[in-house]
Amino acid sequence: MPDLTTIEDIQTVVDAFYDGMADDPVLGRFFADVDMEAHKPKLYAFWASVVFQTGTYRGRPFDAHLRLGPLEARHFERWLTRFAATVDAHFTGEAAERMKQKARQIAVIFQVKLGIPESDLIVDPSSP
Ligand code: HEM
Repeated sequence: MPDLTTIEDIQTVVDAFYDGMADDPVLGRFFADVDMEAHKPKLYAFWASVVFQTGTYRGRPFDAHLRLGPLEARHFERWLTRFAATVDAHFTGEAAERMKQKARQIAVIFQVKLGIPESDLIVDPSSP
């Protein structure tokens, strides 16, 4: 399997990650009223900036999550598991690992900002 190398590859991951998200048993309700097609350009820019440091994302990624409430550790567990599975289904290599690792790091920051207790934090759902 190839590694991620282009902005199109970022789009492949983002498209696959949100494809069917509204039907996800754990996360679906958060996305029920979100127009994903309108959101995707932001998400492409965000992930391109995270993985390839394109600097194309401007915004406060955490703020969008404050009004979804309440987000709990189990939501982050599901989000990270789904995200890693999506990356792994399409790409393998350094950039793919970087994308998953950054997602875990950002998810921890989000959880801490949301006040999820340290003992409940989901750091790496694939680890025992
Ligand atoms: C518990 C898990 C999560 C849920 C349920 C969730 C849900 C959402 C929803 C519904 C939106 C759209 C909000 C709106 O209407 O404006 C959104 C935006 C976004 N999410 Fe998440 N999210 C989660 C975790 C994450 C994580 C871990 C990351 C990054 C690693 C992330 C990155 C983003 C970004 C970049 C946006 C767009 C922000 C902007 O508008 O600039 N999310 N999320």
